[in-house]
Amino acid sequence: MGLLQNKLIVIGVSGGIAAYKSVEILRQLQKEGASVRVIMTRNAAAFVGPLTFEALSGYSVYMDVVEKDVSGEIRHISWADKADAVIIAPATANMIGKIANGIADDALSTFIMAVRTPVLICPAMNSNMYESRAVQRNLDCLEADGFHVLEPDSGELACGVTGPGRLPDPPFIVDRLKKVLSPSDLKGKRVLVSAGPTIEPIDPVRYISNHSSGKMGYEIARAAEYRGAEVKMVTGKTSLPVPFNVSAVNVLSAAEMYEAMIRNMDDADIIIKVAAVADYRVKDVAEHKIKKTSDDMIIKLEKNPDILKAIGEKKKNQFLVGFAAETRDLRENALAKLKSKNLDMIVGNVVSEEGSGFGSDTNRVTLFYADGNIDHMPVMGKDAVANALIDRILARII
Ligand code: PMT
Repeated sequence: MGLLQNKLIVIGVSGGIAAYKSVEILRQLQKEGASVRVIMTRNAAAFVGPLTFEALSGYSVYMDVVEKDVSGEIRHISWADKADAVIIAPATANMIGKIANGIADDALSTFIMAVRTPVLICPAMNSNMYESRAVQRNLDCLEADGFHVLEPDSGELACGVTGPGRLPDPPFIVDRLKKVLSPSDLKGKRVLVSAGPTIEPIDPVRYISNHSSGKMGYEIARAAEYRGAEVKMVTGKTSLPVPFNVSAVNVLSAAEMYEAMIRNMDDADIIIKVAAVADYRVKDVAEHKIKKTSDDMIIKLEKNPDILKAIGEKKKNQFLVGFAAETRDLRENALAKLKSKNLDMIVGNVVSEEGSGFGSDTNRVTLFYADGNIDHMPVMGKDAVANALIDRILARII
């Protein structure tokens, strides 16, 4: 289950030109399984009509503390009790000032006073206003009070000025909300993840590779970052964006991945080797494109280094996790790899199964531990697999 599945998120919209982006935040949250309610200030309603939010959220927008709700609900209290998290986007200088100073004179600021769940405040305004001492003082105050404040983007603003103050893109705001909702139990830990496929060139236009999309490794890197770790990823070629706050080393071949992993392994507390590495590479890579001169051809291959095995031999205190991609005899093959590569844990997946392994958004994994324990898991989203894996690792290193 994703982090936002079945969560109730309240979006507070205050009056700025970026209010239109809150519609996209709402849609994004719903796409991830959350239910959304919206509170607007009167000024916000001048930028985007409440009807837009009402139609999309399925709930009437809350705008007046004194309004009579048909259900008899006191919404600034009941929504505050029910909400799993709150996003204020855009948060204007006025709204930031009110919340920082305990002023509750409209629906949004009154609601915030009653909220006990995490609040992500997303300032958006003119650069001079954002950099003013009053706004910066109020933002410091909000952080000290336990609010999560997202730095605005820099760029050309609606007022024509270029500088900080732009509301970040909705997917990024939702991504940061997921971090806010995650435990910080990996704080202080450094995690090194390898992800994606390797590519072994045949000639300048052709190569040998595999079906790894990078999804599994990227979800592990993302989940580790959400949970407070400092994350580095050594990644083969994928079409995925690097998760925010994760530093990435891009490689193509197994030889390049070997070099990058060995160079970075000493700086890691936990190493998770998800990448699908080509066991063999082409012995003599052609300098020019090979022409089709005969009906068949033989390409001579030579063995690539086993990166995971090398890390297993060199490791000191790192917790080392490998993956085993199998089409049969999962248990025997995974246990053999666990032992021969000196791992603390190996994650086995049957890659020929529907909804498991390469390319899919889900995976069905079995965890084999060096102490002989085994954990069978059902088919889950790769994000959920990542979190379950981190839970198991944490239970063994703390
Ligand atoms: O990227 P996705 O599309 O999301 O797919 C996910 C996945 C199927 C790639 C992933 O779940 C997975 O199974 N990764 C391991 C792929 C693999 O190479 O498995 P293997 O059984 O061949 O290798 C065992 C372990 O040794 C792996 O951790 C591998 O990274 C490592 N290895 C293998 C060969 C080699 N020369 N060097 C290595 O380090």
